[in-house]
Amino acid sequence: HRDLIAIGALERHEILYLLAEAEQYVAFNRQATKHSDRLAGLTIINAFFENSTRTLLSFEIAGKRLGADVVNMHAAQSSVKKGETLIDTAMTLNAMRADAIVIRHGSSGAVGLIADKVDCPVLNAGDGQHEHPTQALLDALALRHKLAAQGHTAEDFTGLVVTICGDVLHSRVARSNILCLQALGATVRACAPPALMPEGVERMGVEVHHRFDAALDGADVVMMLRLQNERMDGQFIPSPREYRHLYGLTAERLALAKDEAVIMHPGPMNRGVEIDSAIADLADRSIITSQVEMGVAMRMACLDVLTRRARGVAGWSAQEAQ
Ligand code: CP
Repeated sequence: HRDLIAIGALERHEILYLLAEAEQYVAFNRQATKHSDRLAGLTIINAFFENSTRTLLSFEIAGKRLGADVVNMHAAQSSVKKGETLIDTAMTLNAMRADAIVIRHGSSGAVGLIADKVDCPVLNAGDGQHEHPTQALLDALALRHKLAAQGHTAEDFTGLVVTICGDVLHSRVARSNILCLQALGATVRACAPPALMPEGVERMGVEVHHRFDAALDGADVVMMLRLQNERMDGQFIPSPREYRHLYGLTAERLALAKDEAVIMHPGPMNRGVEIDSAIADLADRSIITSQVEMGVAMRMACLDVLTRRARGVAGWSAQEAQ
């Protein structure tokens, strides 16, 4: 079976294929009645070992709109709390004959480990500081929609400058987005306080910035990230007021980017810290709620494509994706 663990494991044409497949679900989700039997008879387990609002709900909604039986396992209410190991938990889910398992875990690599142990496709809903591939895919879908509304006709992001600012060190969203945006032709700038920039990130081909004003200069897209206080391990954390002063997206700062620069944030936001409320809600520029809408469509596409083999539909191979 084929899993979705990392953007780094996808070819550019596969990313474009998933974006194209998601388009039908954008239209589908805007209908008054949203139900298909495409995944009828399949069982999808969402196993979340970390908290989530957007990812968990959108995977649940995605599976249900496609007619699958969807069950959620919250680690806090599971036998993980009694000491059951990750592998034993994975084998337990496998024995229930799930047709797809969606996993969020606090440890980098944990989702890949489970994928090696089970018989069905595994979708990574975020593993530690490693990757959050469906977030990057939905971000690309939301950005493409916004750019199309602004009159851009290209299918990819060639020539665009995207500034990602925040706690890049701990951000699986940043890593997946860097890989996805670059695969689609964008130039990516990463901006963070020195203590929150991963060592060697320049080897990923990003421009590294520590001064936000310089990172914003002429940017087409500004993607803000929150401070992940729950993952800090001795790093210096500025106070919220200091952080806003140095790295917050304010109206004055936004003026340094291009006139029509698009504002993004994966959520959850800390309004008044990394992004001012007025900017987060800026009509015509902020696509933060569109990112959430596109999340359902993209997760429907991912569940559809990854379960094709189980449904006896032609699978997702490199040849088909080209
Ligand atoms: N963007 C994101 O992953 O949000 P949740 O943690 O709410 O799922």
